[in-house]
Amino acid sequence: MLIESGLGIAITGSGSALPTATIDNHRLVELVETSDEWITTRTGIHQRRLATPQESLSALATQAASAAIEMARITPTDLDLIILATSTPDDLFGSACQIQTQLGASRAVAFDITAACSGFVFGLVTAAQFIRTGVYQNVLLIGADILSRWVDWTDRSTCVLFGDGAGAVVLQAHSSDRLLGFELRSDGTQNNCLNLSYQPQPKELIPGVSIGKGTYAPITMNGKEVYRFAVQKVPEAIEKALFRGNKSVDEIDWLILHQANQRILDAVALRLNIPAHKVISNMARYGNTSAASIPIALDEAVRQGKIQPDDIIATAGFGAGLTWGAAIFQWGR
Ligand code: UT7
Repeated sequence: MLIESGLGIAITGSGSALPTATIDNHRLVELVETSDEWITTRTGIHQRRLATPQESLSALATQAASAAIEMARITPTDLDLIILATSTPDDLFGSACQIQTQLGASRAVAFDITAACSGFVFGLVTAAQFIRTGVYQNVLLIGADILSRWVDWTDRSTCVLFGDGAGAVVLQAHSSDRLLGFELRSDGTQNNCLNLSYQPQPKELIPGVSIGKGTYAPITMNGKEVYRFAVQKVPEAIEKALFRGNKSVDEIDWLILHQANQRILDAVALRLNIPAHKVISNMARYGNTSAASIPIALDEAVRQGKIQPDDIIATAGFGAGLTWGAAIFQWGR
């Protein structure tokens, strides 16, 4: 194994994993008042994968991670750090340590981060800081979500959108820095646009001492607001990241956005003047897989041979928080 020293990073491997159960738009008609025509024209989604009760988030994430580790030509014991970006861990205390054990990555420190559908981009930048400071050399970043556990399956405005999956990348220390630029943003004033929030019910433990016992309520979303926000903010973030990387829009080989809605992808590409053949989209098959959508799309494009070493990729995530972020990087060593 070659470990290059230096304070730069390279993304040297990718992997993805999806549950096998597929449900297409026609089957959703059995659940809610909707139609294949509405879902297809409004979102571009045709089908999605759903995790069975036996399929855990950590198992899907481990599968995606193993493929990324293999592509990077390292072994799990080479890993210094594992970051799991998820909003739907198997355990609210975090699932990264379970993944560490399942991989046999005994040297790695592991923790979860939550930034909803921006989780992968936020995780990418977080991972890069540990390498750039010289602290760690081999970092595994996973984006994984099983939102089907938290969707209201009677709410047609949200349940048709989401799917489950996991994607992963390996970042390694490199003599040149291949993360060319980034921009991360948050705006809590719009927090109520997209929530999966805890609903406490008062429970008196002993006289005068009450706690909030409860569970998380299913996802609620103001689709129109989130749509507007994404189409406005994502191009700005990509432009800032490009500026910091001293790159122009013309130099982008591939645009990989969070796969939320085909209309958002088209509108962002149009605003940036990026031609459609450079826009990677797989949401027709998987729906919106939240933190997993970018690494799944990246991995598919790499394995299909679309993305070649040294290609320049512009990526951006956006979603609950509200959060959004963009990163420009060059693929491979
Ligand atoms: O990953 C997190 C980030 N999330 C996003 O990026 C989501 C952003 N938002 C969107 O992608 C879109 O806003 C949606 C796909 C969620 C909705 O599309 P829209 O064009 O904004 O539709 P709408 O919410 O304005 O609804 C239009 C109509 C409504 O009926 P009325 O009020 O016009 O009679 C809805 O009740 O469509 C109705 N509708 C549906 N009809 C059939 C909403 N959901 C459905 C459905 N099937 N599944």
